[in-house]
Amino acid sequence: MNLLDPIVQASAGIRAIRRDIHAHPELRYEEHRTSELVAAKLAEWGIEVHRGLGGTGVVGVLRNGTGAKSIGLRADMDALPIQELNQFAHASTHSGKMHACGHDGHTAMLLGAAQYLARVRPFDGTVNFIFQPAEEGGAGARKMIEDGLFERFPCDAVFGMHNWPGFAVGQFGFAPGPMMASGNLFEIFVKGRGAHAAMPQQGIDPVFVAVQIVNGLQGIITRNKKPIDPAVLSVTIIKAGDANNVVPDEAYICGTVRTFDDKVTDLIEERMRRIAALTAEAHGATATVNFDRYYPPTVNHAAEAAFAADVAAELVGEANVVRAVEPTMGSEDFSFMLRARPGCYLWIGNGDGSHRAAGHGLGPCQLHNPSFDFNDELLPLGATYWVRLVEKFLAR
Ligand code: NI
Repeated sequence: MNLLDPIVQASAGIRAIRRDIHAHPELRYEEHRTSELVAAKLAEWGIEVHRGLGGTGVVGVLRNGTGAKSIGLRADMDALPIQELNQFAHASTHSGKMHACGHDGHTAMLLGAAQYLARVRPFDGTVNFIFQPAEEGGAGARKMIEDGLFERFPCDAVFGMHNWPGFAVGQFGFAPGPMMASGNLFEIFVKGRGAHAAMPQQGIDPVFVAVQIVNGLQGIITRNKKPIDPAVLSVTIIKAGDANNVVPDEAYICGTVRTFDDKVTDLIEERMRRIAALTAEAHGATATVNFDRYYPPTVNHAAEAAFAADVAAELVGEANVVRAVEPTMGSEDFSFMLRARPGCYLWIGNGDGSHRAAGHGLGPCQLHNPSFDFNDELLPLGATYWVRLVEKFLAR
């Protein structure tokens, strides 16, 4: 591993920032303290600061030389509504809120890179440091784009980095295409007619209809889409009724659909609407479907993915670079940035959890787990990676 010495020397300060953010987690669009801290550090290092994009978003702009090329580096800042089980010194001081996805570390790694780049300026062009709010279900990336992110801060390419438990420290993961899935929420409202449960012939039973619909939905996955197109359809909520002797009026079905391709999502949505409506009709009920495509799939651009993987290979060796990871069905709102600009989303190994300080919770060190903690060993590595990426992309 070829870490940059000044970054290693500064890493205690960056670690203090990471732990401070970890101790003060803020939920989506409430990242006031975090964005204040980010803006103050950028300004302290002489980086031009822009605030207010997507509410609490921050963009730092650093120009050098006369080059016209520009690059965007993105970190997310928000925490999750989870009660932290860790008891170590930097555990959350905000009840019910926790940095359980490592966005504290992503923010700190990008700050570490910004500090170095501002001082040494080993590039020709413009670096845009993008600190976004609300990655966790709030589409903060889309909000920043709607607020003119790429018009105000043009980026020839944009890159995002996420820690990845299970990958060893020093490993990086990339994919030349789809890396994470789309996130789609569906709800189905079944309307029947209530009756005495001993006289069901007098009503239309929405529970019975809902069960037929749920069974039918899985047929979309096994019978309608091409087997080689990955997709998940999970029904996670069914609600109906309040009493054992009453046929209720209505039933409610809710769940999630994940795909890597909008055309597959189109097919699933269309089939879902037909199955719900016509199954209900067959039984004299009605069903309406709400289908919300909240995150598109995260699809890397092949050229930028190869470029980003080459940078990692120079840093940690080809043996530690997975150039085509198995994509996951989780979703990520960096997808919106990859729809707007060429670029690449990448994983940096967070290790197996043995880095956690004494007093950590008994759960695994997995994303969204109450015993998770970002691995501080990544701070100089991730920051060095960002710097090398900038040096190569904006080569003098
Ligand atoms: Ni995350």
